[in-house]
Amino acid sequence: MAVIRQEKRRLDYKKPDFTITDIDLTFELDLTATIVTAVSRVKRLTEDRKIPLVLNGDSLKLLDVKLDGAECAFRETENTLELDSVPDEFTLTVKTCINPKDNSELMGLYVSDGKFCTQNEPEGFRRITFFTDHPDVLARYTTHIIAPDGAYPFMLSNGNLIKDEVKDGKRVVTWEDPFPKPSYLFALVAGDFDELHRDFVTCGGRHVDVYLYVDKGQASCGTVAIDSILRAMEWDEKRFGLEYDLNRFNVVAVDFFNAGAMENKSLNIFNSKYVLVDAESATDTDFENVLSVIGHEYFHNWTGDRVTCRDWFQLSLKEGLTVFRDQEFSSDLCCRPIERIKAVNIIKGPQFTEDAGPMAHPIRPDYVMEMNNFYSVTVYDKGAEVIRMIHTILGEELFQKGMKLYFKRHDGCAVTCEDFVSAMEDASGIDLKQFRNWYSQAGTPCVSGSLRYDAEKKQAVYTFNQSTPATPGQSVKQPFVIPLSMALYGSDGRKILLKRNGEPVSEVQILTEEHNVVVFDDVPERPVTALLQNFSAPVKVEYPYAQGELETLLKCADDPVTRYESMQNIINSYIVLNTVNAQRRLPFTHSELVVQSFRYILEESGLDNRFMAYILRIPPVNTLMGLFTAIDLDAIIASRKELVRVLSVELADIWEKLYQKLLAEFRQRLAEGRGYECTEEQIGSRDLIRVALNFHVRGLVLKGEEAKASAIVSGHYRISDNMTDTLIALNAATAHNLESRHEILKDFESRWRDNALVFDNYFRAVASAPYPDTLDNVRKLMEHECFDLTNPNRVRALLGTFSQLNPECFNDISGRGYEFLTEILIKLNGTNPHVAAAIMTPMLNLNRLDIKRKGMITDCFNRIMRIPGLSDSIFEKIDKAFK
Ligand code: ARG
Ligand code: ZN
Repeated sequence: MAVIRQEKRRLDYKKPDFTITDIDLTFELDLTATIVTAVSRVKRLTEDRKIPLVLNGDSLKLLDVKLDGAECAFRETENTLELDSVPDEFTLTVKTCINPKDNSELMGLYVSDGKFCTQNEPEGFRRITFFTDHPDVLARYTTHIIAPDGAYPFMLSNGNLIKDEVKDGKRVVTWEDPFPKPSYLFALVAGDFDELHRDFVTCGGRHVDVYLYVDKGQASCGTVAIDSILRAMEWDEKRFGLEYDLNRFNVVAVDFFNAGAMENKSLNIFNSKYVLVDAESATDTDFENVLSVIGHEYFHNWTGDRVTCRDWFQLSLKEGLTVFRDQEFSSDLCCRPIERIKAVNIIKGPQFTEDAGPMAHPIRPDYVMEMNNFYSVTVYDKGAEVIRMIHTILGEELFQKGMKLYFKRHDGCAVTCEDFVSAMEDASGIDLKQFRNWYSQAGTPCVSGSLRYDAEKKQAVYTFNQSTPATPGQSVKQPFVIPLSMALYGSDGRKILLKRNGEPVSEVQILTEEHNVVVFDDVPERPVTALLQNFSAPVKVEYPYAQGELETLLKCADDPVTRYESMQNIINSYIVLNTVNAQRRLPFTHSELVVQSFRYILEESGLDNRFMAYILRIPPVNTLMGLFTAIDLDAIIASRKELVRVLSVELADIWEKLYQKLLAEFRQRLAEGRGYECTEEQIGSRDLIRVALNFHVRGLVLKGEEAKASAIVSGHYRISDNMTDTLIALNAATAHNLESRHEILKDFESRWRDNALVFDNYFRAVASAPYPDTLDNVRKLMEHECFDLTNPNRVRALLGTFSQLNPECFNDISGRGYEFLTEILIKLNGTNPHVAAAIMTPMLNLNRLDIKRKGMITDCFNRIMRIPGLSDSIFEKIDKAFK
């Protein structure tokens, strides 16, 4: 029988016919047969009494249904439980049986390493009981957890602990959450953990008990996370005036988790990857991620829980806003320019790629088949950029005024993106009508600019044209409101004050038309133009920079993002040039300007180590693909390799000296007994030593001095006192295919094979190496005792890295990479299709690839489409790719 699949449409939203105001849930925990009794207070919201009550259900065994305590008629279909002619108000009791242990999809109630936990966003609650599982039904939850006494020392749910008693050998723990919430925010945890505790007093004087639960024996790896919770609580009070609203806040770390973490009301559940860190086993990035993910989930308490989404099309209402908030949190606490550059790289890499492919969607999508496919870089990260643009246009003060109005109007409600924008508009008095196009239109706008300098009138006249390529289902685009932050520099590198009609004007120029003219007066000479300062809009910019202009910006711009972007532009122009050369079988053009600029940055710029390391970053192949409509992968890879070769060889002395200098400082630190610290300064040294080591090693290999390179890398491995340096060495060894990789991998394996999160670094190092034997190595590692196809972290580390971060091997012209991933996708389809759908992204580029690769991916997709029981997650992506 053919499966009929249907997309849901945003515009089909209907107010619910019934609501559930209160629900009393009882869980009789059992690994394979948990009995769930749900007693709901149901209220009819429509006039029409003929409309049946329809409850959603998925993979449930129905045991019993009672209406006001009595038998009643009901209908069970594949995914619903329906009751006809019910009263206007009644109590419904539904008893179901579920099997948490065999829940490999990790949605609903499941077992992670012997511990019960839940993930209900977006539609997991219907895998626990029959319910109106939509975010616009807000109920008060009471939860009773029952288990044999002693079986699960910790039994947690949302809200306040009401009762904890033992009766007839059974322990019954009762929780009550006073805040009405949608079902996706319900959570339950039961198991044994180490417990960490902190006290927090809010600005309003409320005492909060903060608890963190981690695997037994891991308490020492939880201190950074629990301290980050307190920092987040404090920051949200200071910057947003938002106070925590209960006396208890719990975070639990589990090993099996599809996403990063989940903001369930007062019971956040985390992937342990974003909780467990210590100086010995975590990298600088791991530390930074813990702070930002802890912040993110905590901030959801207001932007997500107190005010939630009316329907899933509105996901960016909470996610875009909360990503913006966590970015600001990290920027205020760490280093703002670095945080900004990290965000920009996500947009210019994966987000622009998504916009250019078959899954392109607006931050508020119009059509969704499988909601899990829309927890995307577009909804999250571009969503955050859209909020940031509102912030740029309004300024901090009016933006905060808008936030206040938003909470005043919508606290306790399930609302839309439109409601958010209206609040911003009404609070600020700034018209955002056209701005709303950012919510409705997909695709990356391109702004192309040009300058006419009128020496007589001392005027700089800019023309900016915007256009947005068609995306699936949206062929014609209306112009966006683009806040374009610009600065003008004189030939001496000094900033020219922006003036119009004798008055100073803002650096942020708002473009609203397809064709825009922007004029500045009193410009003494033809200026050098900084465009899109601080990446003020998620757009591509084309501007015909004259010889030397990008260098001027690189050296003189006061905005760090402009300096960074200038170098990226310099690099990109050579990548494009040499990609074309490679295609035409012409010799490479010497990347003179890149070499000069690198030399300047390294020897003269005086930049701090961390920023220097970022500015010297060569964009990865995946990001470079975005420079082309049609992707000639082999030519891009060749062109990038050539650039790395030239830089390694021509700056060989500088790299060597820099590496030696940083290594000496590292040794000095060790000699002085100063330990690893996750400070900007230490991170900076490590970021830069990574860059220096890799160029130095590449240079040596190219000179035929492989043995020397190999020795340097194993030396680095040996002196390392921290995971970041250890991985710098490990990754260099695999990335440059050095002899020492065998011994380093072996040592790493023997030291870390018992720590799965750390061992993931081993998988990543092997899977990202761009060599012909990589695929065989990845296959072998699937047999490794540390690998587990049922654990999403393992799958992402080994298989996700191979498909997403190793474009060279994955897209090997033999087609082996595609065949391999296809096998994996077919396997995962039956166990965890959401994780499968997430790692198949690189195959969605097929229509921009060459005809041979496109043909091979098409064959793989056809094969997948024919498997019985294909999940909506995978189907939706392939179906779109074929359209
Ligand atoms: N709301 C969670 C967060 O962003 C993520 C939930 C992920 N769910 C999913 N189906 N991918 O913090
Ligand atoms: Zn979120």
